[in-house]
Amino acid sequence: MIYKFPKNFYWGAATSAHQVEGNNHNDWSEWESSEGRFKELKNRGLNPENFISGKACNSYNRFEEDFDIAKQLGHNAHRFSIEWSRVEPEEGKFNEKEIEHYRKVIQALKKRNLEPFVTLWHWTVPIWFQNNGGWLAKKSVQNFSRFVSKIAEIFGDEIQFWCVLNEPEVFTAYGYVIGIRPPQEKNIWKAIIIFNRLIAAHREAYRILHEKSNRGCYVGIAKHDKFFTPADNSFKNKIFTFIAKFFWNKLFIKKIKDYQDFIGLNYYNKDTVDFGWKKFRQGLYNLEESAEGFYDVLTNLSKYKKPIYVLENGLDNPNDEKRPRFIKEHISAMAKAIQNGTEVRGYMHWSLLDNFEWENAYGPRFGLVEVDFKTMERKIRPSAWEYKKIIESNTLSS
Ligand code: BGC
Repeated sequence: MIYKFPKNFYWGAATSAHQVEGNNHNDWSEWESSEGRFKELKNRGLNPENFISGKACNSYNRFEEDFDIAKQLGHNAHRFSIEWSRVEPEEGKFNEKEIEHYRKVIQALKKRNLEPFVTLWHWTVPIWFQNNGGWLAKKSVQNFSRFVSKIAEIFGDEIQFWCVLNEPEVFTAYGYVIGIRPPQEKNIWKAIIIFNRLIAAHREAYRILHEKSNRGCYVGIAKHDKFFTPADNSFKNKIFTFIAKFFWNKLFIKKIKDYQDFIGLNYYNKDTVDFGWKKFRQGLYNLEESAEGFYDVLTNLSKYKKPIYVLENGLDNPNDEKRPRFIKEHISAMAKAIQNGTEVRGYMHWSLLDNFEWENAYGPRFGLVEVDFKTMERKIRPSAWEYKKIIESNTLSS
């Protein structure tokens, strides 16, 4: 099969501020060096120092070099996030120097003809916001809106694509249900409040971004969808699959249905739903890859009748042995979905660089580009060249 992608298709990679910039001071950096976290890691026989984001990829200082690499790899788009804690380090006080920094980042992308896809919240928040109760606080939506307004006033005419939130369901589940990420709670009631706050925050941001953009913009979120399949034909597994699909894949998108111009999809894996709550929860960690699942998830999203941009898709593969095949198979599934009428307009691989992988720190390696975290040297992996061939020809042959 030879498949030609639509003209003006966006090809690129994604990153997020806390994972690549280095030296951020936010709720995550506090948690990484907290007593509780140190104790937990020591109990597991691990060295807590290795789980601190620290300098990350030092992309705060090396973004030009990173964008040069993206350009060299044929990309024409790039997703990154603006770190709220840098821009508003104190409640209501904006740091002009940091705003200037992001202006340079945006200019650096544009200069290289990389279309910026800007995420406004990729999980981290300023310390004052967290100390006020984080997203549980009634004022949280108002506080986030102030930040969104500021960014929209400054960059509203330069940015076309806004991704307000990254994976609200992952944030809620990991931080407030399973409790493996800050603030490590296991409280379903709090989870429900958080989920609703994020819905309200998105709707308000949608309104603000449109109001402040003179040239018009497209606003969406990055939605994490999984390919849920029942382990067998039993009634209970079918029911659990239905429930999982509803709560994980559908609920948030339904709630913001009239407040999004596109659907941003983050797709990684398949989850086999097998018997009851305990196994279902284990299923959340199941990382079985499935290109067929990518096709299924994409085509399912077409019912919302909005253009789709894939904002993350990738795998942890340090020696890059599996990544070339992974990319080809997933892009091929996407091509099939487009051929069958699903309107996909872009694909951002996760990630451009190896980076700080949250609670797993520097273990997993998702980069098209390898990073040596001691020397900060960047080394392009073979898969990145394979991806470039697809991008350059805008064609996939299999
Ligand atoms: C997140 C990224 C993360 C990736 C791989 C996604 O859920 O948005 O920040 O690095 O998964 O773990």
